[in-house]
Amino acid sequence: MSTEPETTALAEAIASAGRIALFTGAGISTESGIPDFRSPGGIWTRKTSILFQDFLDSEEARQEAWRRRFEGDAAMRAARPNRGHRAVEALVRRGRARAVVTQNIDGLHQQSGLDAAQVIELHGNTTYAACLECDTRHEMDEMRAAFEAGGRSPRCRRCLGLVKTATVSFGQPMPEAAMRRAREEAQAAELFIVLGSSLVVYPAAALPVLAVQNGARLAIVNREPTPMDEIADIVVRRPIGEAFGDAVGVN
Ligand code: APR
Repeated sequence: MSTEPETTALAEAIASAGRIALFTGAGISTESGIPDFRSPGGIWTRKTSILFQDFLDSEEARQEAWRRRFEGDAAMRAARPNRGHRAVEALVRRGRARAVVTQNIDGLHQQSGLDAAQVIELHGNTTYAACLECDTRHEMDEMRAAFEAGGRSPRCRRCLGLVKTATVSFGQPMPEAAMRRAREEAQAAELFIVLGSSLVVYPAAALPVLAVQNGARLAIVNREPTPMDEIADIVVRRPIGEAFGDAVGVN
């Protein structure tokens, strides 16, 4: 058990809180081997993001998007939940939190044992694809085979519409139901815990502010400073697995 004062303060805040809201970003998955976006060496330090409109307008942009998805496939398939995910799952299982609000698309919270309904995905999920016209689900193996066979972006097996990973790209509308649930989580929380997010992408980054405006205490576990540190009650600048695993008491 860590004797680090901020981790102890987080453990005490968790022990004494009523309803807890959990909010995760890419930083909770780096210890599972999935790179984040804005750390040194992160995805956006090496590539520019593909805007949703570009995906719609350009076959070349679609092919680049699929190339990137399959480039990262090995790391995605090899990734397993880490101690940070297990601590999130433990708080939900113990009834201390109702769900986890996540910006992540890797499905690791579900792999850790949470039901789909307990994982509020604000930016969708990259472990499967969906048709942008009829919403038909398509599995990644099928998409990869089609892309590698023809080199062109896969089309829907039902309506021949454009198919995209089931993620929310910049410029794509946010999932309304997920955003509504996430706001409810923030408004109802007595303690809002951020785990591994730079808190620079909106509307997700507004959720900690909404929680604080509704009277919640705010804890941020993040390796680097965030713009919300100044409104946080507790800031733990340590690896999530260690710090949050210690604070929750899971291995
Ligand atoms: N322990 C603690 N903090 C960590 C760890 C770790 N093991 N690994 C990374 N971090 C921190 C980094 O310091 C960084 O500040 O996690 C944060 C991750 O920030 P981002 O890479 O910006 O990821 P995120 O906040 O989830 O990005 C939000 O941006 O590109 C979009 O849709 C994408 O959902 C993503 C959104």
